[in-house]
Amino acid sequence: MKQIWAFVFCVSIISAPLCRAETLAEQNKGSLGRMARYPQMKPKGVPSLLAGESMKLAQRQNYHEKVEEALNAHLRMEFQAFYTYRAIAAYFGRSDIALPGFYQFFKGQSEEELEHAQQFIDYMNTRGGIFIAQDLDAPPYDFKSGTAALKTALKMERDVNESLLKLHSVAEEHGDPQFTDFLEGNFLNEQVEALKEIADLLTNIDRVGNEGLGLYVYDRQLQANGPTGAGALGIEVGGGGGGGADAGAAA
Ligand SMILES: [Fe+2]
Repeated sequence: MKQIWAFVFCVSIISAPLCRAETLAEQNKGSLGRMARYPQMKPKGVPSLLAGESMKLAQRQNYHEKVEEALNAHLRMEFQAFYTYRAIAAYFGRSDIALPGFYQFFKGQSEEELEHAQQFIDYMNTRGGIFIAQDLDAPPYDFKSGTAALKTALKMERDVNESLLKLHSVAEEHGDPQFTDFLEGNFLNEQVEALKEIADLLTNIDRVGNEGLGLYVYDRQLQANGPTGAGALGIEVGGGGGGGADAGAAA
């Protein structure tokens, strides 16, 4: 009997790491599934405004419920972009990837997205709307390469841009010049600059490839340019080139 228990004990000790490996493989499969589905940037159904709850706010004037709803839908996208960029940064910061320039660039992007979300929340409160937090999708943990990560970023930024344009047209439709002015002054131009910046980065990584010395130099250049701009790897919109601090003001 003792021998049987000893056998069972040994089998469980040996199989535990294998089980853990299997679980990780399953998780990885899930992650790739998420990668395939990603980006889930399209606005989801926004929870309906709480039976006109926000209409009670004293300062509210000419702020249509549909505009408030569209802004809540857009806010989810800003938070989703923040979450996804943070996951991309974490991937490049891993010891088996170790690309500090990419890490720094994507972390900077994620901080910008969080700032955008906060700007929109503050604006919502200024106008007398109610911010309704929504569920986010978990990003994958494996982004494959610099090129793949930049392609994910470009797709995400295009979706954000589409959402900003939709937001602008909803505000126009409901005669809200204050909101269109806010969007034009703070987001619309910056968003196209962000698209150009990432497109430039993609063009240049295609030149050097995703391996070896080319990638090493590219990453070091990204790192040298600071957290908020592609700098010499991209061409600053509006002329000048180089010096990245202002080149990627919004994304
Ligand atoms: Fe943004």
